[in-house]
Amino acid sequence: MIDRTLISEERIAARLDELAREIDTAYAGREILAVGVLKGSVFFLTDLLKRLSTPVAVDFLQVRSYAGTSSTGNFELVRDLSSDIAGRDVLIFEDVVDTGLTLRKLLGLLGTRQPRSLKIAALLKKDLPENADLPVDFLGFTIGPEFVVGYGLDLDEKYRNLPFVAIWDPTR
Ligand code: PRP
Repeated sequence: MIDRTLISEERIAARLDELAREIDTAYAGREILAVGVLKGSVFFLTDLLKRLSTPVAVDFLQVRSYAGTSSTGNFELVRDLSSDIAGRDVLIFEDVVDTGLTLRKLLGLLGTRQPRSLKIAALLKKDLPENADLPVDFLGFTIGPEFVVGYGLDLDEKYRNLPFVAIWDPTR
């Protein structure tokens, strides 16, 4: 069951305000192609993009890397982008960086398509040795290894629409 709120709606909103200012500064004079990684990133992406002054286009791709509460170690591109990213400033949006497998694969895949730049925005990054060297350019919060749900993150498709991030405790 849901054990406790880890990051409140208010803290998320305040951090998104800060991230939007950072992104506007970093991309001054440019146009961003925001790439949402379906499905979990949708809540983070839309709430953050509404705060930006920088012109932005949006596209989505979908990958699969999880089953239940544990990472499978597998990566599957379920749906590709509909845009050509060559020459564009691509900003990937993720809800959570867990092992980092998904983003490593995506950086490799999208990097071959000649974007002008390729950066990452993530709401959450787990503090794990596996992802320590993965560059997250715009990061909301670093969290522990607990399984979390809400604000896009699911447990077998449930809880994505919680407006906060909560810890899921399988023993309760
Ligand atoms: C989750 C999450 C990231 C990825 C992170 O996606 O949204 O994309 O796993 O894990 P990793 O760093 O270990 O690769 P998931 O496959 O559960 O799909 P979803 O976004 O539809 O929930």
